[in-house]
Amino acid sequence: MPKRKVTIPELLNMKREGKKIRMVTSYDYITALLVEETDIEMILVGDSLGMVVLGYEGTVPVTMEEMLHHIKPVVRAARNTFVVGDMPFGSYNESIESAIHNANRILKEGGADAVKLEGGLNVVKTVEALVSAGIPVMGHIGLTPQTATQLGGFKVQGKDIEAARRLLEEAQALEAAGAFSIVLECIPSPLARAITERVSIPTIGIGAGPYCDGQVLVIHDMLGMFKRFVPKFVKKYADLAPQILEALKRYASEVAEGVFPGPEHSFGMNEEILSQLAAGEGKRC
Ligand code: KIV
Repeated sequence: MPKRKVTIPELLNMKREGKKIRMVTSYDYITALLVEETDIEMILVGDSLGMVVLGYEGTVPVTMEEMLHHIKPVVRAARNTFVVGDMPFGSYNESIESAIHNANRILKEGGADAVKLEGGLNVVKTVEALVSAGIPVMGHIGLTPQTATQLGGFKVQGKDIEAARRLLEEAQALEAAGAFSIVLECIPSPLARAITERVSIPTIGIGAGPYCDGQVLVIHDMLGMFKRFVPKFVKKYADLAPQILEALKRYASEVAEGVFPGPEHSFGMNEEILSQLAAGEGKRC
């Protein structure tokens, strides 16, 4: 059966029926084309693009223009996959009006199906306003990379009772605000299970164990392309970096040795034209 874009009611049904939702990040046309060939329901054009594609130290520097630049080719490639565009830091913390303006851009200019933003109780009013404006919103709680400094760094969240209760409260508040789904990042599996059982919208885990309604991974991590830092929760489904490196080294040495390009990678020329060319040697037009 050809792939068809999943709808939000279908995502909610998947939760009810216990069918796992699959999501992966993507930031460019060629990768999104490959995701489109799979059964993966959702693509996240995450602001993780700042680290894995743009070379920033974190996600904070990522701009709206950079997000849009990467959302557009993904949407062009993945016509039948539900695309969520991340709202970058600074695009929803100034005012509700600017949050709506920027979310509209992600949907209208970027072509995404929904937006994602980080935060709990602090963003509930914003989520409510976005949803009232007709914008589907995915929440994101637990380890929220845009505000990792406030959280004391990139570490597991919700480990003590107070923090666990707060995350549960935040998930319920996001659901009440109209979010259609929530990313749970880097929290203990039993807490993710408790949250998943207490909300009726799908939870999508990353470093949150097996009990979430779905999973998301950063594509460069799962394909083994990003060597700088691999979090504990990442499973590498391929180890592409060494293969790419090997290919680049072989190319470099074959060019240096004159092995590449060989005849099979070169274009021939009609003998007659060649002799005319030779006969004309030295003549000036
Ligand atoms: O930006 C991103 O890739 C994310 C995922 C880690 C959920 O927010």
